[in-house]
Amino acid sequence: MFRPAKIKEVDFRNRIVMPAMCQYTATEEGCATDWHFLHYGTRAVGGVGLIILEATAVEARGRLSTNDLGIYADRHVEGLRKIVQLCQRYNAAVGIQIAHAGRKGCEPRLVAPSALPYPDKPTPRELSQEEIGEIVKLWKAGAGRAREAGFDLLQIHAAHGYLIHEFLSPLSNRRRDKYGGSFQNRLRFLLEVVEAVQEEWPGDKPLSVRLSAVDHLPGGITIEDSVRIAAKLKERGVDLLDVSSGGLLPASFNLAPGYQIKYAAKIKEEVGIPVIAAGLITKAELAQEILSGGRADFVALGRELLRNPYWVLKEAPLQEQIWPRQYQRARL
Ligand SMILES: Cc1cc2nc3c(=O)[nH]c(=O)nc-3n(C[C@H](O)[C@H](O)[C@H](O)COP(=O)(O)O)c2cc1C
Repeated sequence: MFRPAKIKEVDFRNRIVMPAMCQYTATEEGCATDWHFLHYGTRAVGGVGLIILEATAVEARGRLSTNDLGIYADRHVEGLRKIVQLCQRYNAAVGIQIAHAGRKGCEPRLVAPSALPYPDKPTPRELSQEEIGEIVKLWKAGAGRAREAGFDLLQIHAAHGYLIHEFLSPLSNRRRDKYGGSFQNRLRFLLEVVEAVQEEWPGDKPLSVRLSAVDHLPGGITIEDSVRIAAKLKERGVDLLDVSSGGLLPASFNLAPGYQIKYAAKIKEEVGIPVIAAGLITKAELAQEILSGGRADFVALGRELLRNPYWVLKEAPLQEQIWPRQYQRARL
């Protein structure tokens, strides 16, 4: 857990990740606020290896809420850069998850691959091919701003029922053109986004994709599909997969500690790509077991790090170097 890692030119002081978690606290213009500086800065002081900023919208229409962070205008860069500098000053690597909500957005007029609504949301309008091309360019521009802000890692949000996932899953994509139907067609939008992002994102910094490995629904994405998707992403130069599940439509499934680890492990084993495992990991023993068993390369602790920003420090009294000088007297 405390072993350093390196992907491309980026060093991670340990294997503990804070995954993307929306804070719904940006200004209505999508800019960072003091909350973000405190929230992310505290986890850096707390010893986290990689902090991934919350879903940050590539266009205003792609926000999940009216207080999402944005990366669709130049005015967003300054606040993001300040978060990056704070995290890096306290030795955490810092990434950003860029996102488009698609049919799960907060605006009255939504867009999606097909005109199929998410429950209790307005029916989205089906995107034309020309509009799809425009949205791909927005992801590219977002990646350029993430580079300018100095992030160490960029993550494309392709999970949880947002726009890219809506293209991937046959349950939300009923298109009959080159973006729908076959597996290859449903994957096309994600691969176009990856390619566009790579034009802006530095080749020596890691590129990550977050996937929902399964839809937990009949007729939806299965782990076998996700293994195929992962293989394509690896082939296209994606460095790290963050393996989550669900979110396309409400579904009931068993939420036991580490419930998603098996998906991360399967993708890692079959495809040989580095993975982050996430989902109800709260105990050091479980985190350690996942890593030592080679089931994942990194472990993400979401809600646990909200409750307990100093989780890493508490678990690491002997790791003197990750303890801030100011807190050394509390170490042992
Ligand atoms: C408050 C909150 C906000 C979240 N926002 C995001 C998000 O922006 N992007 C994302 O991919 N996942 C998001 N998630 C999911 C988490 O990243 C994580 O995968 C999930 O909480 C399971 O891990 P945990 O059991 O350790 O909390 C969010 C979770 C929470 C609790």
